[in-house]
Amino acid sequence: ANPETANIPIIFVTGMGQVRDEALGFKLGAVDYISKPISIPTVRARVSTHLALHSQNRKLEFQYQIKNLELIGKNAQLVQEIKEREKLENSLRESGESLRKLTDHLQSVREEEKADIAREIHDELGGTLTALKFDTAWLAKKLPSTEQTLLDKVNDMVRLVDASVATIRRIVTELRPTILDDLGLWAAIEWQVNEFSKRTGIKSSLNLKNNQYQPSQHQAISLFRVIQESLTNIVRHAAATQIEVGCSYDNNVVRLWIKDNGIGLPGNFTSRSTSHGIRGMYERIESLGGTINIEGVMDKGTTITIKLPT
Ligand SMILES: Nc1ncnc2c1ncn2[C@@H]1O[C@H](COP(=O)(O)OP(=O)(O)OP(=O)(O)O)[C@@H](O)[C@H]1O
Ligand SMILES: [Mg+2]
Repeated sequence: ANPETANIPIIFVTGMGQVRDEALGFKLGAVDYISKPISIPTVRARVSTHLALHSQNRKLEFQYQIKNLELIGKNAQLVQEIKEREKLENSLRESGESLRKLTDHLQSVREEEKADIAREIHDELGGTLTALKFDTAWLAKKLPSTEQTLLDKVNDMVRLVDASVATIRRIVTELRPTILDDLGLWAAIEWQVNEFSKRTGIKSSLNLKNNQYQPSQHQAISLFRVIQESLTNIVRHAAATQIEVGCSYDNNVVRLWIKDNGIGLPGNFTSRSTSHGIRGMYERIESLGGTINIEGVMDKGTTITIKLPT
């Protein structure tokens, strides 16, 4: 149909009164009919009714179009918002990722620095002390046995030098646990815990047997550092008389725990505190994709449990 005339309402005027004729008229596109004989007022009334109907229809259609446009606009806005949200989530994920990488990097820089310091101490102080030890031993031999006071003094000096050598060895080993490379993680932990007991008088029990898991170097150094910090914390804060260090390995998960029978954690303890020891533990374990849990019971002690997927 011609679009210009398509919307003009057609009223047919008829002398035929059969239902069939009416139906045919409507089918051909009429909107109404007027039977003959026609009266002018009827025609006027019908025409104005249809014009009013038509303009009402157009108004409705117009409103519908507007609503439709509004909906389309809202839809586009929603799509845009979803896109922006996705972008935000992506950049959040990315910055989390780079933060983890940075932490990792910082940890390895720290390990390298520690290794440097260890080498300096070992080479500089270690050498000097060894020379001193030889000299004092030589002095002790040269002194006549009649000079008892001098002899006692020199022997004291030998003992002091020996103690210093042992201290330096301990510091160097803690700075750079080459024992990890030599013995592997589990033997190194055993050695560390035994040294700890000897030094502090705190009894220890070890439960590291039946453990077949061979950690990567990164894992080994992280776990070893966590053990070191836990032991230091026990000496400094726990007032414990007994500790237990154990590990297990099943279902591809390594579990490692350090338990003491000390005073438990302070009431205001949070794992994300500003102190560095425990924060560092979290960072190390989380950068390996593991979890760490620290639980204290007042006057019963504290247990640290680490779980590491392998
Ligand atoms: N085994 C423990 N028994 C009782 N309290 C503990 C134990 N380990 C940690 N704490 C408490 O948790 C706090 C935080 O420990 P964290 O190692 O983070 O810090 P720190 O030892 O005080 O200082 P640093 O940063 O030198 O390690 C400690 O100050 C202490 O109060
Ligand atoms: Mg600490």
